[in-house]
Amino acid sequence: MNREYNGRLSRRGLLQASAGLLLTATLPPLRAWAASSNEYRIVAEAGRARLAGPNGPETDVWTYDGTVPGPLVRLRQGEPARLVVENRLDQETTVHWHGIRLPNAMDGVPGLTQPPIGPGESYVYEFTPPDAGTFWYHPHANSLEQLGRGLAGAVIVEERDPVAVDRDLLWLLADWRLKETGEIASGFGNRMEAAMSGHVGNTVTLNGRVSETESFRAGERVRLRLLNASLARIMALRFEGHRPMIVAIDGQPCDPHEPESGRVLLGPAMRVDLMLDLQGEPGRRYDVVDDFYDGLSYRVTQLAYDEAAPIRGHVADAPLELPRNPLPEPDLAAAERHTLTLQGGMMSMAGMSSMNGMMGGGMTGMGDGTVWAINGQSMTGDGHAGMEPALTFQRGCTVVLELRNETAWWHPMHVHGHSLRLLSRNGQPVPHHQWQDTVLMAPKDVAEVAFVADNPGDWMLHCHVIDHQMSGMMTVLRVV
Ligand code: C2O
Ligand code: CU
Repeated sequence: MNREYNGRLSRRGLLQASAGLLLTATLPPLRAWAASSNEYRIVAEAGRARLAGPNGPETDVWTYDGTVPGPLVRLRQGEPARLVVENRLDQETTVHWHGIRLPNAMDGVPGLTQPPIGPGESYVYEFTPPDAGTFWYHPHANSLEQLGRGLAGAVIVEERDPVAVDRDLLWLLADWRLKETGEIASGFGNRMEAAMSGHVGNTVTLNGRVSETESFRAGERVRLRLLNASLARIMALRFEGHRPMIVAIDGQPCDPHEPESGRVLLGPAMRVDLMLDLQGEPGRRYDVVDDFYDGLSYRVTQLAYDEAAPIRGHVADAPLELPRNPLPEPDLAAAERHTLTLQGGMMSMAGMSSMNGMMGGGMTGMGDGTVWAINGQSMTGDGHAGMEPALTFQRGCTVVLELRNETAWWHPMHVHGHSLRLLSRNGQPVPHHQWQDTVLMAPKDVAEVAFVADNPGDWMLHCHVIDHQMSGMMTVLRVV
């Protein structure tokens, strides 16, 4: 179904684009960044962007502070932050600080944790990020359209002691569905797509531009923070001629390890921090390819080495491992166990029936526009008042959740307010001490995750393919 979009994508890939955001030495101008205060003022407003590069057409987008992606928010671990969000859109919004373990009232879910921010209104978010790492922010109101039109930005919480790398780079990857004119195609919330892989676009940008090359220097070690801010596109990145090491997933440091089969898998909302030793040849270019969808691989960018001699004669010898965050360790022996079964979508029942048959007759109890469920219950939309929790936990208890994907589709399952320790997948233990806030589930996967329910409040658990969330793959966990 995405073939034509990807065909156009590769043509767009020929267009010239800019280099990645450089996070050290030459920080881009961040007009909202007050260097010493952890304070930001961020305005949600309409704007224009040249997604295909300086010579491409202009696209009407929705922005934070006029740019796509929004301004990089840099916070310091363990220090209070204050973020004032002003809404200059003509509809309600909220901001969710994805992956940050913060107080429930700061979580940005309309109705559930705060009133929505009306047009012309502001809202103050205040929290102290306990964990260093790569996080992000996005709306949790009319999410499909607001995220799909560009509202997203990265949050970097800095380690207390700087990590030894030559450069610290962010690639915020986003997927757009553009018309030939450059305008964003309307039609968010297509029911057929919602029952399948979701709203996958035709144009992938890196830090807001289709990228031809990103510049590197031979011999350097780069911390490369990858963030998939797409509505629905899953990515699997290969770095030709390089051996990236995964050092953190969803902001949480893990044992450094090479990606399985050399592919860095990034579901929507996921982040992976890589350590990349640039051991290629000066002057050469190396492809970075996304080959997640069979037969639809395309080049995301190229690593373009300048002509200069390597900055060191051997691989940098600083340790790869990042300092761990203060996550509470689950007590598995005393854990409460629950199963959450993911249900619905096309081809979920006996073979391929017609869409009407599948959605009408196949899924009992599902109303209009509802195509997914968790344990037989469908919560739809973005979050609203009166959502009853599927599970309630006593504060401090260890919870083991078995996530069972009974559908024929992939789902990046996200939990607010907590990080999850991934214990096993399909009965096999998962090594590397991985913690994640978004667990990508392949069709028919069964994953076991554990966490300490230490953060009181009502927390969303949903698929981060936004069309899936909107059409029922969402629930609430309560910690009392
Ligand atoms: Cu990034 Cu409720 O999501
Ligand atoms: Cu899903």
